[in-house]
Amino acid sequence: MSGGDALAKLREEALLAIEGVDSMQALQLVKTQYLGPKSTLMRQLKTLGGLPNEQKVTVGQTINRIKQDLEQNLTSKGRALQDKMQLTRLGNPPDPSLASPVHLQVPLHPLTQTRDKMLSIFTQLGFSIVEGPEIDTEWFCFDALNVPKNHPARNEQDTFFLPKSACVSSTSKRTDEDYLLRAHTSTVQIRTLLEHKPPLKIVSSGRVFRRDTVDATHNFNFHQTEGLCVSSETNLLDLKGTLDFFVRAFFGKPYNMRLRPSFFPFTEPSFEMDIFVPHLGKIKDTWIEVCGCGMVHPNVFEAVGLNGQEWQGFAFGFGVERLAMLLYGIDDVRRFYQNDARFLKQF
Ligand code: DAH
Repeated sequence: MSGGDALAKLREEALLAIEGVDSMQALQLVKTQYLGPKSTLMRQLKTLGGLPNEQKVTVGQTINRIKQDLEQNLTSKGRALQDKMQLTRLGNPPDPSLASPVHLQVPLHPLTQTRDKMLSIFTQLGFSIVEGPEIDTEWFCFDALNVPKNHPARNEQDTFFLPKSACVSSTSKRTDEDYLLRAHTSTVQIRTLLEHKPPLKIVSSGRVFRRDTVDATHNFNFHQTEGLCVSSETNLLDLKGTLDFFVRAFFGKPYNMRLRPSFFPFTEPSFEMDIFVPHLGKIKDTWIEVCGCGMVHPNVFEAVGLNGQEWQGFAFGFGVERLAMLLYGIDDVRRFYQNDARFLKQF
């Protein structure tokens, strides 16, 4: 083998050795082996002087090129090893181009689904959807709905009244009114009747507030869906037919239902509607109240400037939580508000 071939072979061998190391210590050993003072290459460099003149230059140049080559490879291998060590210490750097992990994937909240289902059934029956404010006045919440001044619901222990200073803007003329968080969605009946001349059919769903102690069936904030239908000839049979259709469509099957005489200041006659539930979890065969309803009281028409003899209407108010509990078989209303993904995932 010529001197040049031997050097080329040495170079290949050294490059392979550098490539194969996996630690800084091993790299240092390879460096000593191929470029250290006792290495073949260095020894040859020292003995250059003994070569014939014409070889001195070429061999010298070859050795230097190989030396530079090896040094470069040692340096880049050293960097690669250092990077690898750092990665092991820190873990992989985050890749900003990756899609973010989905931590919480839940369907619409069961109360939202229940509300949407209710509203879609009533719109099939020709009701329009309207909305009303959650902060309202005593007049909309009670007076216009024929609720007497001494009614217990108007008590501060039942209703959240708001301090006047928090509600009355400097431009408002209504400085004398008591503001409150609405205790029911029946307020929307009044707002609708003031804005639209009958005949009309509306539903409104939203949040209501009462000073209730929280337990398995009560919360200080819950949801209602209110309905109002007014024309010159609306009667009790229309109310019953509407509720009957609703229950069938909502639960996907007919339920025995009954209108039980009750009292609400804004309807006359008034009823509570019960449905007969054969079995619900641990509860067996029972009538469960699902809504209050009745024929609109003439005083309510009068309060909004309509002739109570000319117009007739029915109204109803459902508790959304109550229906959701029946639909999904949930026995504690508090579960709706805990924001627990394990619960919310089921719907
Ligand atoms: N507002 C009543 C409540 O919160 C529910 C209700 C009863 C609404 C009878 C009505 C109705 O529209 O006619 O308990």
